[in-house]
Amino acid sequence: MADIQPTQVFYHAGTVTRDERHALLKQNGATLWFTGLSGSGKSTLAVALEQVLIQRGHPAYVLDGDNVRMGLNAGPKILMDTRGLAETSAKRFGLGFSPEDREENIRRIGEVSRLFADSGLFALTSFISPYRKDRDAARKIHEQNKTGAILYIEIFVNTPIETCEQRDPKGLYKQARDAVAAGKGMGFTGVDDPYEAPLKPELTWDASTQTVEQGVALVLNYLIEHGYLKS
Ligand code: ADX
Repeated sequence: MADIQPTQVFYHAGTVTRDERHALLKQNGATLWFTGLSGSGKSTLAVALEQVLIQRGHPAYVLDGDNVRMGLNAGPKILMDTRGLAETSAKRFGLGFSPEDREENIRRIGEVSRLFADSGLFALTSFISPYRKDRDAARKIHEQNKTGAILYIEIFVNTPIETCEQRDPKGLYKQARDAVAAGKGMGFTGVDDPYEAPLKPELTWDASTQTVEQGVALVLNYLIEHGYLKS
C-alpha cells in the first residue's frame, strides 16, 4: 500500500456564507451536547426537544449514542455481522467501551455535530461522554471552527445513579453489578468505569426532580435569551 501522508491535505473553502444559511433556515446552527449516565434521560430529553424545535420550524436532529453505535461508530461484531468485515478490520475500525474507544466515539461525534451545526442545524447529541477532556475537545473544535465559532451548549443530565439504576431500562446496571460481584467487571459507567461530571455546564437538568417538559423549557429559554430562537 502507498504511504499515507495525512498532512498533505488542504482546506477547500466554500462560498455559501453564514448569512445565506441563516436567511434560508432562519437560524444559526448550534450543538446541544447532552451528557450524563446511562438511563439518566438524555435521549428522552433530546428527542422531546427535537420534536418541539421541529414543530416551531427549526431544523434539528438527534445524534443518539446507542443509535450511532449501530452505524458510524459500530462495534466489531456489528461490523462483521452487517458489513461482512473480516475480524481484523472489524477490530481495527469498530468501537467498544475502553477509554480509547470512548475517546474516539466522542471525537467522531464532536466532528459530526460540528458539521451539522455548521450547516445550520441544531445538532442534539446524546452520549454518556464520561470523560471531561473528550467533551472539552468537542467544545474546542466548535469554538475554533474555520467558518466562525459555533454555539456549543453543554447540558448536564444530572440524574442520580440510584434513579438511573432503579429505572435500568436496558438491564445493563444489573448486568454490570453481577459482573462486578463475579469478580470480572464490565467497565460500565458509574459502576466500574468513571463518569466525570461537567464543571461548568451551561445547563443542568435532573430527571428525578424535573419533568421532561421543564427540561425542554429550560433549553428553549436559554436559546431564546441568547438570541438563537425567537420567543
Ligand atoms: S460513551 O461512553 O462512549 O459516550 P455512548 O453514549 O456512546 O457511550 O453509549 C452508551 C450506551 O451504550 C449506554 O446507554 C448503554 O446502552 C450501552 N453500553 C454498553 N456497554 C456499556 C458500558 N460498558 N458503559 C456504558 N454504556 C454501555
